[in-house]
Amino acid sequence: MSKIAVLTSGGDSPGMNMAVASVARSAARLGMPLLGISRGFNGLLGKSKTIDEDFIPLNLDTELDIADQAGTWLRTARCKEFLKPEVREKAAELIRKMDISGLVIIGGNGSFTGAMRLCELGVPCIGIPGTIDNDLPYTEMTLGFDTAVNVCLDAVRSIRATSRSHDRPHVVEVMGRDCGNIALQTAVASGSEILLVPEVKWSIDKAAEQLNHHIACGNTRATLVIAEGCWASMKPFDAYKFLVAHKEERVYEGEPMTSAKLAKVLKYKCGNAEVRATVLGYTQRGATPTARDSCFAFESGDLAVNLLRNGVSNVVIGVKNGRTFHMPIEKALKAKRPFNRKLYNMVNAY
Ligand code: F6P
Repeated sequence: MSKIAVLTSGGDSPGMNMAVASVARSAARLGMPLLGISRGFNGLLGKSKTIDEDFIPLNLDTELDIADQAGTWLRTARCKEFLKPEVREKAAELIRKMDISGLVIIGGNGSFTGAMRLCELGVPCIGIPGTIDNDLPYTEMTLGFDTAVNVCLDAVRSIRATSRSHDRPHVVEVMGRDCGNIALQTAVASGSEILLVPEVKWSIDKAAEQLNHHIACGNTRATLVIAEGCWASMKPFDAYKFLVAHKEERVYEGEPMTSAKLAKVLKYKCGNAEVRATVLGYTQRGATPTARDSCFAFESGDLAVNLLRNGVSNVVIGVKNGRTFHMPIEKALKAKRPFNRKLYNMVNAY
């Protein structure tokens, strides 16, 4: 095993820099030269003007500078082209030309599929789970999830304070396209009253009934924590027709549902309550990692280098019963973990 490389791919997540720094530190200790690949799998396609823009030598200085920083210093991207076999062949060729004998790939399920395909072409790869969504069922945690939940928790606490001052219910949208885990933990930890996620069917009428109940009980600042992807599991509702009938302006036919629209609909269904909405968006992805995320990143970066050095490949690193472990990528991608309905029901109980 000689020169190795590391890349970050997909949506950035807090802890990615620490994982790269940890790879750099372990590689330096073991005397293995290390290259950082810029902009995820795109960097493997040699599209930049000079090769140095895609393949960046990493050293101790880089490690010290980036370890505890937010974002990903290497930059990241989603690379649709990598789905094409001929593009992957080209990438494998360049990897061999650059004399790289192993890759550490930090990202989510799409990135892991890319890693698996590179392994099939003879490029040894190790995956580290980096996604705020915590949507990789084989592992108890992914890099960035803990940070994202804590960012959301801080935000919801502030929102609930203001909501209380003004007697206003609030819709808070957190990230999670297909996975409601950030929403679930945020709702539980903040004591929020209503939770909407993509995994569980829901209806606007039921959400309004819940909110009306809380208001009737004197809780005029109830919070709805909703996952970005919750519209996929919403019972069909014509928000346009409903809002036009209530003489709301600036609503347009055919537009997708949003948290702002949900707030407006709830206002009319809940006795003109002043329902407001906030979308937390990238505040979750760009936050400084928590100690928990940094520690996992530190451990997994070192493990990845040692696995490559020992000739292990085509595996991903995860956490099971609080301990770091590794397993074949293919098996990891097939793992299933049901959504925690018990906690979901506890939040929504009224
Ligand atoms: O990285 C995961 C995630 O933040 C999802 O929660 C979200 O749906 C998606 O990325 C958004 O990605 P982008 O804004 O980069 O297209």
